[in-house]
Amino acid sequence: MGKTLIKKPVGKLGILLPGMGAVATTFIAGVVAANKGIASPTGALTQMGRIRIGKRTKVNKPLIKDVIPIQDLKKVAFGGWDLYKDNVYEAAMNAKVLDEATLKKLKPQLSKIKPMKAVFDKAYVSKLDGKHVKKGKDKMDLAKQLMRDIKKFQKDNKCNRLVMVWCGSTEKYIKEGKVHQTIESLEEGMRNNHKDIPPSMIYAYAAIKMGVPYANGAPNLSCDIPALVQLSIQTGTPICGKDFKTGQTLMKTILAPGLKARALGIDGWFSTNILGNRDGEVLDDPKNFKTKEVSKLGVLEEILEPKLYPDLYGNFYHKVRINYYPPRGDNKEGWDNIDIFGWMGYPMQIKIDFLCRDSILAAPIVLDLALFLDAAKRSGMSGIQEWLSFYLKSPQAKKGLTPQHDIFKQLSKLENTIRHIAGKDLITHLGLDYYEE
Ligand SMILES: NC(=O)c1ccc[n+]([C@@H]2O[C@H](COP(=O)([O-])OP(=O)(O)OC[C@H]3O[C@@H](n4cnc5c(N)ncnc54)[C@H](O)[C@@H]3O)[C@@H](O)[C@H]2O)c1
Repeated sequence: MGKTLIKKPVGKLGILLPGMGAVATTFIAGVVAANKGIASPTGALTQMGRIRIGKRTKVNKPLIKDVIPIQDLKKVAFGGWDLYKDNVYEAAMNAKVLDEATLKKLKPQLSKIKPMKAVFDKAYVSKLDGKHVKKGKDKMDLAKQLMRDIKKFQKDNKCNRLVMVWCGSTEKYIKEGKVHQTIESLEEGMRNNHKDIPPSMIYAYAAIKMGVPYANGAPNLSCDIPALVQLSIQTGTPICGKDFKTGQTLMKTILAPGLKARALGIDGWFSTNILGNRDGEVLDDPKNFKTKEVSKLGVLEEILEPKLYPDLYGNFYHKVRINYYPPRGDNKEGWDNIDIFGWMGYPMQIKIDFLCRDSILAAPIVLDLALFLDAAKRSGMSGIQEWLSFYLKSPQAKKGLTPQHDIFKQLSKLENTIRHIAGKDLITHLGLDYYEE
């Protein structure tokens, strides 16, 4: 047993959300509903998850929030930015994730939350056209305006601490380049309006510069560049990304490690889905879909390691499709066809038809990321928080480290990090000591 690293949360936590669409409004509505006692925060480990502490000779599985102090949901304030003016109640009504009767019960709280003017540029998300947008002489000027918003929000809402979770649209695909390498080159690029610095990077810069923990829920680069990693270490800021791991990829990272664990072969994995919300519309543009595709494709490569297992996965074919289909709204349907083979090469097939709800799966991830990042900050941690890979499709990792996609390894890492923060013994699952006299 070691020393507890974490300080107790004092006062209020402000959760800032760039992008107040389906995911962000469903998240806020769920927290308000939980505080009113009319819905449970299902899916959030910070609220409902338990963790084993100590040996299996005793049953000791307390709630995670009793092992490390997690911010009380009653002491949270919400803010954010969007290029549409709608308040959170109106935006949630438009998103149509939650039913009208439930939203009406939450109207007094939700309609008070109004987005601040966004840093937005159509060049990165061509399908959107809102007018609630900041003007500035260059990208650095826009970042400074965001920092002023953050300070004002903190003061107006009397928050002791803040975190930011990007819930904005997926921007067009941008490759990491020279401008992203150092803090100096990034700042210089911001002053010169460099085209490879999209709005999500400007928000990330503003947050990290101010020491506000930052998570990226979309697959665009945002904080996943060397310059912002350096800045996060310099300012003592925990960061993580990219892309919430919700429907199809969640299934993939549950199933693929299982098949591999039993040395079953895979010839092909075809994933397709229909989706009719605004996210689906944005992803209908090939430039934006490319960003998502890269994020979704990397998962199986890392889990299956075809180079190390050429006989089992050397020829596997992986295809991912997203089809915009308005009638389904946020209720996505995802199909997977997996061609596998077993003993003596005999083929078999697995079919998955997941009728999921995108934002219902994403909302608890926003909550956990916000509260765990805040816990990391109170524990003196900074830079990339790999232990939060559990929640992400394309986990950010230090250069030279392969990211961990297998959900069971990710869970182990998350649990051991919680034990580490709490000063409890880590659990290796070796268990030989139980059999030693
Ligand atoms: N729901 C899921 O299961 C899931 C899973 C993984 C990732 N994501 C990602 O989360 C993000 C949000 O998803 P959603 O379903 O809420 O989408 P959405 O379209 O309903 O909401 C996104 C919001 O961001 C706003 N926005 C775009 N650019 C902005 C900017 N620069 N500044 C401020 N606001 C901006 C849009 O106006 C919109 O209101 C998307 O990038 C999506 O790809 C969602």
